[in-house]
Amino acid sequence: MRWFARIYAIGRVAGRRAFAALLIGVVTVAALAIAVRSESNGPSRAASRAGGARNPESAVSAAARPLPAAPTARAGRAARTAVDPAGEASCDPSTVDRFRAGDTTESTMERIRESPRRFCWSLRPVLAESDDLLRLVDRDHGLEPGYEPTDLVSLAEAHPEIPLRTGNERLTARAAEALADMVLAAERDGIELMVSSAYRDYETQRQLHEYWIERLGRTMAEALSAPAGHSQHQLGTTVDFAPVGRRFGETPQAEWLEQHAWRYGFSLSYPEGYETMTGYNYEPWHYRYVGFAAAYLEREFFSSVQHKMLTFLHENSRDRRSVAFRFHRGGPR
Ligand code: DAL
Ligand code: ZN
Repeated sequence: MRWFARIYAIGRVAGRRAFAALLIGVVTVAALAIAVRSESNGPSRAASRAGGARNPESAVSAAARPLPAAPTARAGRAARTAVDPAGEASCDPSTVDRFRAGDTTESTMERIRESPRRFCWSLRPVLAESDDLLRLVDRDHGLEPGYEPTDLVSLAEAHPEIPLRTGNERLTARAAEALADMVLAAERDGIELMVSSAYRDYETQRQLHEYWIERLGRTMAEALSAPAGHSQHQLGTTVDFAPVGRRFGETPQAEWLEQHAWRYGFSLSYPEGYETMTGYNYEPWHYRYVGFAAAYLEREFFSSVQHKMLTFLHENSRDRRSVAFRFHRGGPR
């Protein structure tokens, strides 16, 4: 009670008015402290339970989705939580041998069967990615003519540190950021990565494809240029490094990318020796951003062949949400 006696003594000295003001001050500060505590605990915990978009990357993925029918990454997570109380823990190691192999060879399936737990562990963060990031785009699987990512950024404006061929190149915000990280890392190793081409809309791709057909004839053009609606460049996550051409494969840039690109979430789309599978000639300059989780999965289980991994994901579901559900339920349709 000593503190009370002190306050009482102060009150007597300062007079009743000052004492009242002091009490009001103490009560106000206490009320404010309680309000701030409940603000910072309550809503953010609830948001994390519902899989809210606190992660800036998931916010970007959600913004990148242009198709009205497609769910946002945030909605996807909420829906998955609704069907599966375990959230993203939706790959069941005991059922991996029921997956459809897609393009993957028997040796890949064997690797998955040998380490099913490690496979599920690597797959789970991939299932949480937005559908568009890992959408299969090849000769047989195309994009709508109007498909355009909503969060394209100008590389010159957003990342002036990236060397560009024209200055007009654009990518999605997330791919651009990863590219900037990779360019700086390469620079630290004495390697300059210059962007030759990035996002291309449907019409630009159509004109480019026509140009190659006129110049080389249809058969040769088809082996190096995708028809409109079938180019990964329309996704806004794909980059060609300069100088485009087969000799790029002999450069220190190509060697550096082969070793390090996966760490930044980039993956070579058309590797040598897989021309029949991918439908295109070897293109050592053409990299697609798939995110770190998928680049890691591709390297560990799909022999660093992007097409194998994307086909596998595609074969086992039509979108990331149902892939999670099907994996959880013990396999594909
Ligand atoms: N050169 C690749 C295949 C494209 O046109 O997208
Ligand atoms: Zn390309």
